[in-house]
Amino acid sequence: MSVPLSSDVPALVDLPEWQAFAEQVQLADKRASALRIVKAASLSIDLSGQAQSAGLEEAAQALLRVRQFDAARKTLLSGGIANPTEKRAAWHTALRSGEPPVEVARERQRVIEFARKVQSEGRFTAVVHIGIGGSDWGPRLCVRAFGNTGTRLKIRFASNIDGHAVQGAVASLDPHKTLVIVSSKTFTTTETLRNAERAFDWLRQGGVENPKDHLVAVTANPKNAAAYGAKPEQTFQFWDWVGGRYSLWAAIGLPVALAIGVDAYEGLLFGANAMDKHFATAPIADNAPVQLALAAVANRSVLGYGSQNIAAYDARLVFLSSYLQQLDMESLGKSVDLAGNPVTVPTGSVVWGMPGTDSQHTFFQWLHQGTDGAPVDFIVCKEADHPNFEHHRLLIANCLAQREALLQGKDFDAALAESRGKAGSSEEAAWLASHRVHPGGRPSNLIVLPRLTPYTLGALLALYEHKVFVQAVIWGINPFDQWGVEYGKVLAAGIAKELTGEPAGGTRHDVSTSHWIEAFRNELG
Ligand code: F6P
Repeated sequence: MSVPLSSDVPALVDLPEWQAFAEQVQLADKRASALRIVKAASLSIDLSGQAQSAGLEEAAQALLRVRQFDAARKTLLSGGIANPTEKRAAWHTALRSGEPPVEVARERQRVIEFARKVQSEGRFTAVVHIGIGGSDWGPRLCVRAFGNTGTRLKIRFASNIDGHAVQGAVASLDPHKTLVIVSSKTFTTTETLRNAERAFDWLRQGGVENPKDHLVAVTANPKNAAAYGAKPEQTFQFWDWVGGRYSLWAAIGLPVALAIGVDAYEGLLFGANAMDKHFATAPIADNAPVQLALAAVANRSVLGYGSQNIAAYDARLVFLSSYLQQLDMESLGKSVDLAGNPVTVPTGSVVWGMPGTDSQHTFFQWLHQGTDGAPVDFIVCKEADHPNFEHHRLLIANCLAQREALLQGKDFDAALAESRGKAGSSEEAAWLASHRVHPGGRPSNLIVLPRLTPYTLGALLALYEHKVFVQAVIWGINPFDQWGVEYGKVLAAGIAKELTGEPAGGTRHDVSTSHWIEAFRNELG
């Protein structure tokens, strides 16, 4: 495969199509003058709170054409080389396809049969899931979302290298009845392998004769797993053409099938597949991932917003923003384009969030009146899975209200009218009013799910996957590699040795790092 030439990826700012798009974004209405709702895979995506105009829609279509979006989408969905720096496909859509490749169908069936076997045998009543990043956030998100009132098996997650993580994960579990799932695409990740060792120590100390009988490996590196002692019948494979942060749909979803149920695992796949079909076929103007991506590029690269807030109005989605942080920031946190040239506009933004209404009492002050503000994705379900109708009515009311306040704002006159009653004088009222003004015009999306089910969550996550892909196409960057994570790992391996007293071996640290290596070495020595 030849290295892309600069001419293959013209600098974005130099493109007349980009300049027209940027101009139209500036001119567009930003206060929801018209209702814009796109429907996709049972979700309603309301983009009325984003920059909108006929001129912008036209400029956006021209930009997608000049960035060869159709060809890029075809490459992605057909399993072509969408990840050039690793010379790989990024074919996560095949994992949830109705007609998947043979090996995908085989492995999916093995996952389902294994989950049913464990559930029916009843030998194991608890699971310790060990994995990090893309091998952790997906199962953790889904098990928390759908295990709100209990799970079929007790399940604990350990990801961090901090020893407190695995310590807490095994606490009060019965080693004889505990399955240890070790999930790692590479099966080389330090945190995962070390935590697995601790888990097997715990099994041994608990009197388990053959600890590796309790081992289930999920990996794209079955050779390493076998060398680690995983039995072939308890090793579930995926492939290097599946990105870690796109791997929930592969055997990485096994904990969902085990703890929630096989139907939940399949529901996720059905929902995501429905979104794939929408993404592949819906016209641009009604294509939800594309429209979300265009709005995000406008907010980030034209309007200068540095971050994106995720406000899921559902306490069960406590891990959604973490999941999307990895998906979005590990995909779009890139400063060079496909040709290796510096990008010419700001790319990936900071993704952050917390479920509503907790977030309202945490950082919404900043969202409403801070100097920067941030676009917000409000996510809410029409229907709840608890009997307290009143609570759900108030939840929805708060979600809509916060969004309206960001959009409409409150001008000085309105603030003054409010302040008069609270002030002793008109000067004081004016002074108070200046503190109570809301700028408004702060962008947001509202994503409405009929209910939180594996199907709708699957569709929602696929929506964000495709949104991220489209942003990358517009910015001309590769969303499927993550070279930036390696350097810190290499340095950590060296420093870990130095903390045992080994020489630095030619590594020259800055004065501060040297100081603390010295200080900790004495502490840890
Ligand atoms: O360090 C980042 C990363 O490589 C992620 O991309 C990945 O999801 C995570 O580490 C875990 O990697 P693995 O599944 O290979 O253990």
